[in-house]
Amino acid sequence: MNENEPKKPGGIYSKKVMEHFMNPHNWGRMENPDGVGKVGNPICGDVMWIYIKVEDNRIVDISFETFGCVAAIATSSITTDMVKGKTVEEALEITNKAVANALDGLPPNKMHCSLLAEEGLKAAIEDYIAKKKGKKQDNQKQEK
Ligand code: FES
Repeated sequence: MNENEPKKPGGIYSKKVMEHFMNPHNWGRMENPDGVGKVGNPICGDVMWIYIKVEDNRIVDISFETFGCVAAIATSSITTDMVKGKTVEEALEITNKAVANALDGLPPNKMHCSLLAEEGLKAAIEDYIAKKKGKKQDNQKQEK
């Protein structure tokens, strides 16, 4: 078997996928996040929000709301576990393949769902960076 292929072909979810789907970690909207990412899956129309809190360049808290399928919810949930405590740069290196592997694989026809979590995380980090730059410019304006 090609090592790039998901470990669970044939449309059957792994035990880990079902655990995260039934009991998602870090679910819910965050008060005053430092960054928010909202992404939609153009293939199915499902949508997710990811919220991050950043201190000293480290993601100290993360939560999500995903309105989507089993795979979308499970990948969002495990992504939040993988990201918590990482630096912004480390978090940006997480790929949807790494997320799928952490869940012991996804059925091939569900791999596209794992993109939601990867793209949502990137959007939240971009929002955080944009807000940080905006704050810096505001401070510079006030100093003048
Ligand atoms: S079918 Fe929409 S994210 Fe999976």
